[in-house]
Order: sequence, then C-alpha cells, then structure tokens
Amino acid sequence: MKELSLHILDIVQNAIVAQAANIHIFIDENMMDDKLTITISDDGSGMDEQFVKQAINPFTTSRTTRRVGMGLPLLKQAAIECMGDLKIESSLNVGTKVEVWFQHSHINRVPIGNMVETIVTLLIDGSHFNLQYTHKINEQQMIFDTREIRQILGDVPLNHPDVIEWVRKSLQGEIMELYQYYKG
Ligand SMILES: Nc1ncnc2c1ncn2[C@@H]1O[C@H](COP(=O)(O)OP(=O)(O)OP(=O)(O)O)[C@@H](O)[C@H]1O
Ligand SMILES: [Mg+2]
Repeated sequence: MKELSLHILDIVQNAIVAQAANIHIFIDENMMDDKLTITISDDGSGMDEQFVKQAINPFTTSRTTRRVGMGLPLLKQAAIECMGDLKIESSLNVGTKVEVWFQHSHINRVPIGNMVETIVTLLIDGSHFNLQYTHKINEQQMIFDTREIRQILGDVPLNHPDVIEWVRKSLQGEIMELYQYYKG
C-alpha cells in the first residue's frame, strides 16, 4: 500500500505534465466528521468532459510510453476501500481539480506519509510553477507557498541545495507543530 503523500506526488505530477503554472495541495483532516479530504487543483491544460469520465479508468492515458495510466485509478480504489471516493472536475484550458476523501479512522486508510519529501521532490524537479500546500487539522492550519519563498530569495533558485534544506527543516517543524495542537 502506497502512502498518501506518494499518491499526492503522482497527482501533482499530472498537473505538471499539464503545464500548470499554479498548483494547490489542500489536506483537510476533520476529526469531528471523521473525514480526510485531499484536494489538488491546477490551472493546467485540463480535460474535456469525455476525457474526465474516462480518466479514472485504468486504460485511459495520454502517455505514449505505456498504455495504462494508473495514478488516478489507484487513488480512487484506496478511497473506496475507506468509505470515500475520488472525483475530478476539469475544463479544457482552465484547469483541473481532483478531490479524494476517506473515513479518517478507517482501518484500511493508508497513512498520509511524508509530505515534506513530496514537497521537496516537487521543488527539486521543477521550480517553474507556484506550489501552495495547505494542511488543516480541525481549526488549525498551516500554509506553505513558494511565492512567499521566492519573494525572500530574489535571484536564488528554489531548488538550490541550501534552500531545499531550509524548506525541509521549516516544513518539518510546521507540520509537527500542527499535529501537536491536535494532540492537545
Ligand atoms: N491535472 C491534469 N490535467 C490534465 N490532464 C490530466 C490531469 N490529471 C490526469 N490527466 C489525464 O488523465 C490521464 C490519466 O492520469 P493518470 O495519472 O491516471 O495516469 P498517467 O499519468 O497517464 O500515468 P501514471 O500516473 O500511471 O504515470 C493522464 O494521462 C492525463 O491525460
Ligand atoms: Mg499520472
């Protein structure tokens, strides 16, 4: 079973292939409703209505190297096993929103995993898009936004090793703080 952070990496990579300039990852952990919702939205090339309907079918792909696209179907399957589901909203030349939800406490629900490494991986292999990552637990939330970091960095590229190391440490700290609130 793949951790959710790795599924998120897959879904964001679809947005990058679709040439998105702005990508937003939103993780919403609502303990009152016992629900975990992950939303990934982008302003990339999008899909038409017909393609959206087929995109969660494992035999739909615009890849040329391999006939079967598995990113979306695998995540949908993981959600269905936890009383959740996955839905896609998309329109051509506007963008795409993938929303997936799970029963938070479900015994089969895979852990969120290492979001720090997912974000860092995305920054290392492509820093030409804006990436926002919001993580909310009940009423508490943290926001990571590459636009803010770029303002501070000026000409220093986002994937400079020192910057990556700083992002890794500060994001780690913020996520830990977020979970500490939840534990009370
Ligand atoms: N955010 C997106 N914007 C535009 N098209 C998308 C987006 N996400 C998915 N698609 C389309 O849906 C297809 C299926 O996506 P999926 O992630 O399931 O498989 P894949 O990316 O083709 O292959 P894999 O993820 O297994 O490497 C993609 O090939 C792409 O054409
Ligand atoms: Mg994919």
